[in-house]
Amino acid sequence: MGAKSLLALSFGAAFVLGQESCPGYSASNVQQSGSGLTADLTLAGEACNAYGTDLPNLTLTVEYQSANRLHVLIEDQDHTVYQVPNDVFPRPGSAGSADSSNLRFTFTESPFSFAVARVDGETLFNTSGTPLVFESQYLNLRTSLPDNPNLYGLGEHTDPFRLNTTNYTRTIWNRDAYGIPPGSNLYGAHPTYIDHRGASGTHGVVLLNSNGIEVKINDTAGQYLEYNTLGGVFDFYFVAGPSPVETAQQLAEVVGLPANVPYGGLGYHNCRYGYQDVYEVAGVVHNYSEAGIPLETMWTDIDYMNDRWIMTVDPDRFPMALVRQLVDYLHQHQQKYTVMVDPATAYVPGGEYGAFNDGVEQDIFLKNSSGDLFLGVVWPGPTVFPDWFHPQSQAYWSGQFDSFFNADTGIDIDYLWIDMNEAANFCNYPCSDPFGYAEENNFPPEAPAVRNGSPIALPGFSADFQPPSSAAKLRLRRQENTASMMGLPDRDLIDPPYSIQNAAGSLSNKTIHTDIIHYNGLAEYDTHNLYGTMMSNHSRNAMLSRRPQDRTLVITRSTFLGAGQYVGHWLGDNISDWPHYRISIAQMLAFSSIFQIPMVGSDVCGFGGNTTEALCARWMMLGAFYPFYRNHNELGAISQEAYRWESVAESARIAIDIRYRMLDYFYTSFYEQTVDGTPSLNPMMFLYPEDSNTFAIDLQFFFGSSVLISPVTEENGTSVDIYLPNDIFYDWNNGFAPVQGSGKTISLEDVDFQTIPIHIRGGSILPLRSESANTTTELRKKSFQIVIAPGQDGTANGTLYLDDGLSLEQAATSYISFTWDGSTFSMSGTYDYGAGVDISTITLLGANSQPQSVRSNGADLSATYNSTTKVVNVEANIPLSGDATVSFGQVSAFTGTASSAVSSNALLLASVAASVMCLSGFW
Ligand code: NOJ
Repeated sequence: MGAKSLLALSFGAAFVLGQESCPGYSASNVQQSGSGLTADLTLAGEACNAYGTDLPNLTLTVEYQSANRLHVLIEDQDHTVYQVPNDVFPRPGSAGSADSSNLRFTFTESPFSFAVARVDGETLFNTSGTPLVFESQYLNLRTSLPDNPNLYGLGEHTDPFRLNTTNYTRTIWNRDAYGIPPGSNLYGAHPTYIDHRGASGTHGVVLLNSNGIEVKINDTAGQYLEYNTLGGVFDFYFVAGPSPVETAQQLAEVVGLPANVPYGGLGYHNCRYGYQDVYEVAGVVHNYSEAGIPLETMWTDIDYMNDRWIMTVDPDRFPMALVRQLVDYLHQHQQKYTVMVDPATAYVPGGEYGAFNDGVEQDIFLKNSSGDLFLGVVWPGPTVFPDWFHPQSQAYWSGQFDSFFNADTGIDIDYLWIDMNEAANFCNYPCSDPFGYAEENNFPPEAPAVRNGSPIALPGFSADFQPPSSAAKLRLRRQENTASMMGLPDRDLIDPPYSIQNAAGSLSNKTIHTDIIHYNGLAEYDTHNLYGTMMSNHSRNAMLSRRPQDRTLVITRSTFLGAGQYVGHWLGDNISDWPHYRISIAQMLAFSSIFQIPMVGSDVCGFGGNTTEALCARWMMLGAFYPFYRNHNELGAISQEAYRWESVAESARIAIDIRYRMLDYFYTSFYEQTVDGTPSLNPMMFLYPEDSNTFAIDLQFFFGSSVLISPVTEENGTSVDIYLPNDIFYDWNNGFAPVQGSGKTISLEDVDFQTIPIHIRGGSILPLRSESANTTTELRKKSFQIVIAPGQDGTANGTLYLDDGLSLEQAATSYISFTWDGSTFSMSGTYDYGAGVDISTITLLGANSQPQSVRSNGADLSATYNSTTKVVNVEANIPLSGDATVSFGQVSAFTGTASSAVSSNALLLASVAASVMCLSGFW
């Protein structure tokens, strides 16, 4: 640690002790209007200059933006302090008024503090305990909270879903984080939390700030949550809830609705780092098919590149002609192909490298203050980095894609994977000799030997070679940017006075240096956390320009608020062990239900280190309920494709079969999230918000809002304790037999490695496909089975969204609502999309007797009854083209009589544990 950081630490200690000695601000010139207020905030005493210089004059702007959203902005009066640019984070519109708001803003003039309350009287946020600090390189604001709060969010992290609230620090500064250690900053920046207070409701708070942030949560001065940022402004959005689901919907209005994905993107994906050549990749495709495991998408990591140069192929191992044949082969078999692209571009001056030359000619890459290219070290050795703020960066990036991923001459990828975009740089600050560092550390690593002898014989592969085409070239001029909010001058952009607990050390370690100034004048210090999301947006646009009619799927590592509008996220470099298997659920829930990035999943079977057969078997099953379901593995680890062990293969077949049968149910949930932010994955507390036993649960979750997934979570275990709220459920693995939950933990025993406990929540109607298929294209030709799972009141409902699964603009869609009122099933809605299949079966669960007659349209339908599982199956053959009703006559459906409904299920040799379980431990 340098002398400067030591100084900063000692200042830090002094400041923490003397925090109250900062003067705070006084409000004056208060202007009220029907939609909010403005006020001047003036430093109320002698500057404390704790970590920079106190700004004397601020402005407060309060806007009632909608019935459930309040915007509070505290910024410098001069508008010099950096703010997140509007084109990177488009602000939500404002059309609200104080009178119609469910929130109330109040403030104290001197010392200035403010509070936000819900109209029901619940105080949500209150800063009155400590003075507001607004300095050139440091902001501080603290809210008091009720004791023992239930707080969630503040990503990206691998801590439990419900955050620790004692002596807890969450650092937010995007970094390459191999092993995703708990308690540390990871790849994404999401300064959003939700605060759940049981019967007193839930609300959400977003701080729109892309500077380094440290959130401290503690109870030493009453319970509080405190923001410490390295700059920017206080730009808060408060949403009123009051339910968790409404909170999620309102957060989506702040950060933007997530992009929809292609239906096929929800299929099963296989990847690894370390496939030696195109033959090995093709061999994996072949092996999946031989093993009878549906593989929707094959992926290739950086292995395909020539010396790790993006936009190139290795001419020996991945010659373009053969890669093109592989892609053709996949497409002919209704499968897809995805490859990785990194932002770091090999530094190859004076050579024939198109991506580098084009970028230099277009002046796209980041530069040092001297005007030289900024160099880091990534896979190819010394590298440059695109400046996404350059006005031509989109044209450059799309141009590279149009050429390299050209359908006629290049790799015709279907989806895209972007990585290392925090941005990662292997070389520690100051990285004064990138060439020496690259050489010493063997970047790029030597490629594996080219295979001897003839390659694996695969039908349809030949060996003609064709070099990649080069990109179009443009020359552009650098322009000066004179806009406001460019950042205060004279700051220490490398070693700011306040140190956040960045696990990589100094802010500039292992990334782009924070004193780099972007093309438009913004400092990397302020915009670092935006880099991955800007690359995401550029990459999505580049993919859309290749196939303008189609939705795309881009999976990124680094994210910021709102990234879900463009991309999905995989959870980075986990380790092949049980703690990482477990924590993936909490991580995924945060991204889907709070950060509005619902296309999310963790590397199945684990990335780092060697997996085991038992872990991989369990993970193939758990992963089937991640929205993004991909097996991925690191270089050098043992192979872990799903066919490598028979037990894993069987788990995979069973899990994929279940996932695919549920795919339209989940696609509907996902679609609904893209429409209004309703989460497509639900933590248990979202659906049972008044049941305090659910608040800490993060090893069980709802896939959609109706399917409870409760995986076995202990190493090599075959039992699991699961919590069932006081509600009726139906056991997928026991012929849908009813199980009455009673707000207790039960033990499921003998859960073998090919079983994952799944319960359908009473009150739901699920549109399932009647059978699974080898690809999602084939799946779409299967008829539907509608499963009615009556709730405790005897009724149920559900929805089905249908479209062509791919087009960006759909010519015709169907949206169908299903209801069950205790004796009649009805469907109504719109039916414009011709699905080409019928509802072949209607399955009623929890029936206590065989219905005397089942009739639709005046005709009798044939029905069978299983008295053990209490399931009625009706041969329906109802077209998905218009409203219909099916009457079940006098069926005696389940009405919540617990004793008659408890299953004698082999899995449920349930010993009802009296205690509430604690489910959230990671390590
Ligand atoms: C880091 C990524 O997180 C990992 O998934 C990938 O395999 C390696 N980079 C190599 O590209």
